[in-house]
Amino acid sequence: MKTRNLAWLCAGLLTLSGCAPQGGTQTVETTSTKENAVIETILARRSIRKYTAQPVEREKLELIVKCGINAPSGMNKQPWEVRVVDNAGYIDSLTALYVKANPKAAEDPNFKNMFRNAPAVIFIASPTDGSGQLDCGLLGENMVLAAQSLGLGTCCLGAPTRFMTSTAEAAPYLERLGFSENYKLLYAIGVGYPDESPEAKPRDESKVRFID
Ligand SMILES: Cc1cc2nc3c(=O)[nH]c(=O)nc-3n(C[C@H](O)[C@H](O)[C@H](O)COP(=O)(O)O)c2cc1C
Repeated sequence: MKTRNLAWLCAGLLTLSGCAPQGGTQTVETTSTKENAVIETILARRSIRKYTAQPVEREKLELIVKCGINAPSGMNKQPWEVRVVDNAGYIDSLTALYVKANPKAAEDPNFKNMFRNAPAVIFIASPTDGSGQLDCGLLGENMVLAAQSLGLGTCCLGAPTRFMTSTAEAAPYLERLGFSENYKLLYAIGVGYPDESPEAKPRDESKVRFID
């Protein structure tokens, strides 16, 4: 009897916190997007390209990265390396090189830096043999969702990392990230406090089919 009461209490707490597991004790109501914190977070996330000047707290960055490395990975190989940069000197001096090569980028009146203006950047590297990219994507999704749940905005970034890996002048900045020899920079995620709330871009539901 005691065990049963405890089970009901736990189910009640999970339901209230919006963390009830799928199936089992979860009621139909808790699966609605309004009451499920995870689903709400997923559906509310948008790429942010305009941020306030507020720096991101280190504790939040640490938590975001912790969520990242808790992503699943094939055979738990964890084929990623992660570097977090919130040093404005690094970001601004690399941006100066970027602007020299891409002067049009700075014409945008909202332009602050090459990482879509984010005050903190998480760099993600995958093995040079081409493996691990799927795992790195899952790592990143965990991080953008964790950031969203903490009131932060993010933007996954491919273009700035292509500049970093293909431009001789950017090489010292890449080197400073200190990735292992058998790892290469794959993409980055800009993080900061959002100063915009863009509409969701349309999603093509015809790409999904249920096969009966
Ligand atoms: C692998 C990847 C690379 C991306 N690279 C860039 C980029 O270089 N610059 C940028 O502004 N957005 C970039 N994005 C963000 C996408 O443009 C954005 O996710 C997409 O338009 C959907 O919008 P949403 O994230 O607001 O739903 C990238 C996203 C992914 C997943």
